[in-house]
Amino acid sequence: MRPHVCPWWGGYFIDNRLRRLLHKPEEILGPYVRSGMTAMDVGCGMGFFAIAMARLVGPAGRVIAVDLQQKMLDVLRKRAAKAGVGDRIDTRRCQANALEVAEPVDFALAFYSAHEVPDLPRLLGEIHECLRPGGRFLVVEPVGHVSAADFQNLLAMAEDVGLAQDDRPRIRLSRAAVLVKE
Ligand SMILES: C[S@@+](CC[C@H](N)C(=O)[O-])C[C@H]1O[C@@H](n2cnc3c(N)ncnc32)[C@H](O)[C@@H]1O
Repeated sequence: MRPHVCPWWGGYFIDNRLRRLLHKPEEILGPYVRSGMTAMDVGCGMGFFAIAMARLVGPAGRVIAVDLQQKMLDVLRKRAAKAGVGDRIDTRRCQANALEVAEPVDFALAFYSAHEVPDLPRLLGEIHECLRPGGRFLVVEPVGHVSAADFQNLLAMAEDVGLAQDDRPRIRLSRAAVLVKE
């Protein structure tokens, strides 16, 4: 069965001021994203994390924000421009089973998006391909949608493609892991 994809208008429910009470993007990303990095946000939605990433990479860095839905990317572009970081973010529309990001990245994020991707091993393989050696991948899934067993499965698939577990950060209402390309 094809996984359910968050409809574009659903972006307004998960990307708003109230969510900041639950998830503080700069705090969540701060340990991994440094000035000058190239960072990628997979399933970026309306930019809740991509805009914070753009602040953290600074003017010398770059963010590649990838999503299946053009409407998500259109809202992200407007919000990024308003936040003054539009010039640091490349938005890319992808296919359900192909990110097609060719350039190397130092950090990748998939926040509440991996369970919507039909071919998870393929996505993990693509993220592994993009990451520079030593690069980190933070994957975060919602507890309500992804069971502990399914998250363990994801970690096993990640290990199979060469992404080793580095940390298990605590993020509210979420299952999270930091994986590293060795
Ligand atoms: C629940 S939203 C999360 C958005 C954002 N990461 C956040 O935390 O606010 C999931 C996002 O993943 C995107 N998505 C779903 N399937 C995808 C795929 N195969 N490739 C890339 N993005 C996908 C959806 O369009 C949606 O924007």
